[in-house]
Amino acid sequence: MQKPLPLLMLSATLILPFGARSQAILRTAPLTAGDLEVGGELAGLPAVTRRWVTYEDLLKLPQESYTVSDDTNFLAKTEVSGVALDTLVRRFGQSPDADLIVAICYDNYRANYSRAYMAAHHPLLVLRINGQLREHWPKSEHGGPMGPFLISHPFFKSESSVLSHDEEPQIPYGITRIELRRESVVYGVIRPKGGWRADSPVMQGYEIARQDCFRCHNMGKDGGTMAGRSWMTLSRKARNDGALFRQTIRNPASVTPGARMPAHSGYSQVTLEALTAYFRTFSSAGTGR
Ligand code: HEC
Repeated sequence: MQKPLPLLMLSATLILPFGARSQAILRTAPLTAGDLEVGGELAGLPAVTRRWVTYEDLLKLPQESYTVSDDTNFLAKTEVSGVALDTLVRRFGQSPDADLIVAICYDNYRANYSRAYMAAHHPLLVLRINGQLREHWPKSEHGGPMGPFLISHPFFKSESSVLSHDEEPQIPYGITRIELRRESVVYGVIRPKGGWRADSPVMQGYEIARQDCFRCHNMGKDGGTMAGRSWMTLSRKARNDGALFRQTIRNPASVTPGARMPAHSGYSQVTLEALTAYFRTFSSAGTGR
């Protein structure tokens, strides 16, 4: 690219849309291992593009601060500050197409933030904890690093529930990559085929699986791969032995000693049956596929 004169640069800054102007801090290669990788639907760039933003450049974006007391990643009342996720969407997103933020962690756990979730809970990409830069951050619950990035909220109140599943706070740590995606595309891959009624067990199971299971279990390239068991594997399990499938969800350690999957001990039988009905839609009867 030709280097413009300072005067031209100023007018370009005034004329270019907000999103395109902000692409300036997106680098084509990482400077350090602690940079945030950004991908997906970036304004003015093809969908496969990978870009990186440094921690220092993120600190120069508009910052917000909150005192949080209900985030399980912190042992006590903690002051967090950083950039609101919706600021990131406005800065980098191909609006209005990018309406879903996917945060991907070093262990391949993924958290999804829809526009509705962002409006209700105002998630924040945390850059400072108690005023400290990240080299001084406390360790995570498992003794590993909280960084490079984590997400928290001013406070979290469940806004919805499906059967005995209450909306959960999405508070991953160890985030290395953010993708700006389309909700219709990402959730589309796990939407059950066919015209199910919204209050059918299949659709209720879908809502729960989308919020919960999709963070660790993948369908193709979407969803987390932390579990190493895909949606189709889960579907096969649901079809072949529904009772074992439900027991795995309610109490994974009773099926797999030392299971890393969290127990869902609060799920009612009806809730577990809705999940079974939903996952079964992905494999046809009798074939075990
Ligand atoms: C925090 C991550 C996480 C979440 C959320 C999660 N799982 Fe898992 N799941 C795992 C992991 C990891 C395993 C592999 C076994 C283990 O270590 O627990 C697993 C294994 C399983 C298995 C056993 C598969 C096999 O090979 O036998 C089933 C069935 C399953 N998950 C279903 C679900 C369903 C249904 C949901 C949503 C209600 C869900 N999981 C949510 C992490 C998760």
